Amino acid sequence: MVEIASTDRVFILTGAGISAESGIPTFRGEGGLWRSYRVEEVGTPEAFRRDPRLVWEFYSMRRRVASAAKPNPGHVALAKLERALEDRLFLCTQNVDSLHEQAGSKRVTHMHGELFKSRCDSCRRAPFDDANTYEPPAEIPRCECGGRIRPHICWFGEVPFDLDRIFQALEECTVFVAVGTSGVVEPAASFVAHVRRRARTIYVGPEEPANKFAFTECHLGKAGEMLPNLFPG
Ligand code: OAD
Repeated sequence: MVEIASTDRVFILTGAGISAESGIPTFRGEGGLWRSYRVEEVGTPEAFRRDPRLVWEFYSMRRRVASAAKPNPGHVALAKLERALEDRLFLCTQNVDSLHEQAGSKRVTHMHGELFKSRCDSCRRAPFDDANTYEPPAEIPRCECGGRIRPHICWFGEVPFDLDRIFQALEECTVFVAVGTSGVVEPAASFVAHVRRRARTIYVGPEEPANKFAFTECHLGKAGEMLPNLFPG
């Protein structure tokens, strides 16, 4: 169990691993999405300009998989922790699924965007809820301004969302917990190095992450099995 004092502020960073037990594939490792798809073809702004249909096929597939998924005990444990700590907990996820919200988390920062939102790639219209799939022969949707509608996702080469709020929360935290993330994608991989001199740093996942040197504790195991015991609420 992780002891949390009444003065602690907890920053949680989740990655694809927390949703693995819900049936959503991770990116790297066995069965990972980047083993079957090339990121240059489906996960960059250039890819969308070159072949928007292929990009939408990829995100349509991911919308279908994520719509069928349910939160697992790992998501539920973090929602329970938020109820106990209220605004002393900052939940930042690299995941674009909505399983944290479905488990009951109220304040989730999606630094890589949200799978069930779309936006225009040319005008400033706000991102909007969109659970549709756009696959051939369907046309790529267009905005009223004529621009193409794209997934509300941070692609490689783009700046993640909400970095100001994230770095403020990192400054304030006294306990940093990363769950199910391989520790290779920046800037998230460096959050732990940013806080390690003044915060307890804890990793939870079945294998050590690439940035394991920066963690003071590694709890090896699946998120759905470990988190309810580490954070019983
Ligand atoms: P990765 O696919 O790189 O890593 C998944 C991590 O989850 C690995 O460290 C696994 O050991 C761990 N894992 C697997 N099963 C788990 C389980 N049951 N419980 C806990 N952990 C488990 O995914 P991320 O680190 O999240 O970005 O990837 C970061 C970013 O790279 C993603 O947000 C995505 C990707 O390219 C964008 O699309 C912008």
